Amino acid sequence: MLLLTQEMVDRFNAALHAARIVGELEPTAMVLATSDGQGHITSRTVLLKALDTNGFVFFTNTTSNKGRQLKTNPRASATFLWKANESQVQLAGRVEQVSDEEADAYFATRDRGSQIGAWASLQSQPLASRELLEQRVREFESKYEGMEVKRPDYWTGFRLQPEMMEFWQGRKFRLHDRFRYVQENDQWVMLRLYP
Ligand SMILES: Cc1cc2nc3c(=O)[nH]c(=O)nc-3n(C[C@H](O)[C@H](O)[C@H](O)COP(=O)(O)O)c2cc1C
Repeated sequence: MLLLTQEMVDRFNAALHAARIVGELEPTAMVLATSDGQGHITSRTVLLKALDTNGFVFFTNTTSNKGRQLKTNPRASATFLWKANESQVQLAGRVEQVSDEEADAYFATRDRGSQIGAWASLQSQPLASRELLEQRVREFESKYEGMEVKRPDYWTGFRLQPEMMEFWQGRKFRLHDRFRYVQENDQWVMLRLYP
């Protein structure tokens, strides 16, 4: 597997920083598309929580719809849209689960309410009522009263390791700039594409 270059990571971080500066509200939000073995595609927003040359990390519930799809087909695509400065980054590649140590370390940084929420939510399963969810929250609050909340086994991170990464910048008259990084002969090559 070819890692990202530091230059690609720096370029992404510069684009993220630019989006922050112009006031993008959720600059780390990315729309993540996954699919099952039959080619049914689904997408939803998740937050980017870590990035280095190994890839883009997000956290979720492995029993959720996306978690089940990623188990069957460990590939995904993700798109960051930064409307405030007409900018977009697209990724596509393989996805792997992060180590338990990495998941534990991130889980420990979450506020207690979100840690309890990870236990209370059977993500993507039908929920009969809001009261039931609130009751489950109370149950886990009392279970963990006075204790550290441990990470549920089914809640972890995934690392998207891009095989393609594209930077898009809006320009006048729809003559936008597109720079796509692709892998050729075990090296990253950058192509400029027509908008
Ligand atoms: C701004 C925003 C950020 C979100 N971040 C996450 C996230 O980091 N992890 C997550 O599991 N769900 C996150 N969600 C909820 C997901 O979009 C989605 O509803 C949930 O993960 C269930 O998706 P699934 O049924 O397709 O698996 C976020 C939603 C929004 C709107």
